This record gives sequence, C-alpha cells and structure tokens, in this order.
Amino acid sequence: MAARQIDVRSDTVTRPNEAMRRAMCDASVGDDVYGDDPTVNALQEQTAELLGHEAALFMPTGTQSNLVALLTHCQRGDEYIAGDDSHTYKYEGGGAAALGGIQPQTLPWDANGGLDLKEVKKLIKEDDIHFAKTRLLCLENTQHGRVQSLQSMQQAQVFAKEHSLGLHLDGARVANAAVALGVELKQIGQCFDSVSLCLSKGLGAPVGSLLAGSSQFINTAKRWRKVTGGGMRQAGILAAAGQIALTDGLNRLKDDHDNAAKLAAAMDGVKGATVRAAWTQTNMVWLDLADDVGEQLAQFAKTHNVLLSAGGKSCRLVTHADVSSEDVNRVASVLHDFFNA
Ligand SMILES: Cc1ncc(COP(=O)(O)O)c(C=O)c1O
Repeated sequence: MAARQIDVRSDTVTRPNEAMRRAMCDASVGDDVYGDDPTVNALQEQTAELLGHEAALFMPTGTQSNLVALLTHCQRGDEYIAGDDSHTYKYEGGGAAALGGIQPQTLPWDANGGLDLKEVKKLIKEDDIHFAKTRLLCLENTQHGRVQSLQSMQQAQVFAKEHSLGLHLDGARVANAAVALGVELKQIGQCFDSVSLCLSKGLGAPVGSLLAGSSQFINTAKRWRKVTGGGMRQAGILAAAGQIALTDGLNRLKDDHDNAAKLAAAMDGVKGATVRAAWTQTNMVWLDLADDVGEQLAQFAKTHNVLLSAGGKSCRLVTHADVSSEDVNRVASVLHDFFNA
C-alpha cells in the first residue's frame, strides 16, 4: 500500500478537523452584512480580546485583511513602508497600489526579517507637494518563520508615534510568534494600530482572517471590506471553525515548532543541503541547496508521497496540524535518500 501523503508545502494545507466540521454544521448564523451573524460576532469579539484591541473584523483571506488595513490607514497618494519581500508588497498582486492608489516604499529586511528603524527613518518623506505622504509602516511577524522580538515591536511603536505613522502588523502567523516568544497575543497586538491574523494557516481553520484595531478603525474597515467584495452573509459557518482555531489550534502550535526543530536537526549535516539554522524559530525549516536541484527534489519527494516547496537552490518545509512527529521522520528519510543517492 502506498504511504499516506505528507504535505509540508505550507501550513495553509490543513483540512478542518472533526471538531471544526461539527461546529460548522451546528453554527448559529445570520446575515453578517447586517451584523446579524452571532457566530461571526462572537469570533470578532474573541479575536479583539485576544489581540488587545477594541474590535475585529472577519474576512475571507489574509490578503483582503491586509488590503483593507492599508485602505483604511491610507488615502490615494499616500505611501506605506514595508520590507521588500513582505507579503503585502510582493505577494498580494500590488493590491494597495492597484485599488487604493497607495504606493509602496520598500527596504530590505534585516538579518532576522525585521526592519532597521534607522533605515526606515531615511525613507520617510518630508511634507512637500512633490512627495507622496508617508503614512504607514508595515511589519510582519512571523517573517518566513522568523520571530520579531517584543522589544523590537515596542521600539517600532514608539518610532511610529514619533513620526506620526500608523503601524500595521501582517500577523498571518502572529500566533506562532506569541507561542515562540512565550507571551500573550495581546502583548504583541497592543504594539500595533492594526493587526491582521490568519485562521487558515497554523491555526488550522479552512478559511478566514481577522483585522483588529480601534472601534473607529474597524468601522471604516467594514466599509472597505464591503467595497472589496468581502461582505459575506451567513459566514458563521466559517467563523465556527475559526473559534476552534483560536482555542485548540492555538494550544497545539508548540507541537509544530517542536516538529520543525526535530526536522531541522534531522537534516543537519546532510551533504548537499544546509539548514538555515537561525531561521528555525517556529514551524518552518529552510534549506539552502548546494546545487540547482530544487525542482528535482520536489519531484523526487512527490514520487515518495511527500509534497514540499523547493525551487532553484532553496527549499521550505512547513509543519502543521496534519504533520505528526512520525511524519517528520518520513520526510527526513525521503530527503536523506535524495541527497545520498
Ligand atoms: C505572511 C503572510 N501574510 C498574508 C498572507 C495572505 O493570506 P491569504 O492566503 O489568506 O490571502 C500569507 C499567505 O500565505 C502570508 O504568508
């Protein structure tokens, strides 16, 4: 019998567990555009409380949640500053520019996926009719699995205030960051004016992200959510899975981090692949490949029922709810077979 397929391409591949499916089946629902869905309302309150904000707004995706945040913070002709490999800038189709007339101003990440505030300062434009208005600073935590310290986020908060900038966190995996730092989510959340959190990554829900902020911010965001087509109706069916993601899903993230550490250790010293050891901080393991064999590696793994993300000279392996400690052994064994062949 063929071995069960193990998918370590991303933590977005998890399938809803039994508890989620049951909760989705039994969810009380209403029309959320009228604010009538009790399960969505409860999820929004739960998220706002967890992140230490006044309010939160449920949306289908993290891309929309980041976009709505940018549209809410900025006007046409404004500018936001972000890392040059940030999700908002690079992997969301240029939505803020295309739909909001908001231009990005990027700079390289520092060695751990944060932004050097001295460098950010140089990019803030003076108040001059020739220039776009620099309005917002966007950070990401985790960034490619790397955790930004609480101190660095607090420094960014002081910096943003000093320079009259809004501060947004793409916290698609902020729960992984909180678990790795051993802090409450709200200790991170309160550093920012707005936080986008994804339920459909390590937390294991099938769909959904939430944007948290002040009540006033979320009221405006609600308008942009509607404008961008995110006003869902009986969305409680999705929110019900999200409630479980924020409880059970959050409680089990440490297992993913332990499994990633185990996988990184198992790959240590393999000829032809070097683990980016400093990057193994949460649920992602990155490998630098000595040769341009990424595609071959992905193909080889696939024939052994392991799906992974590899291309050129790099490979990313992500642990999640559907990857057990035993699965990690098998993934490591397939990788060893490839590199030892
Ligand atoms: C850091 C980060 N932000 C935002 C997103 C967007 O989430 P979604 O796929 O739900 O649009 C992703 C998705 O992978 C992500 O990795």
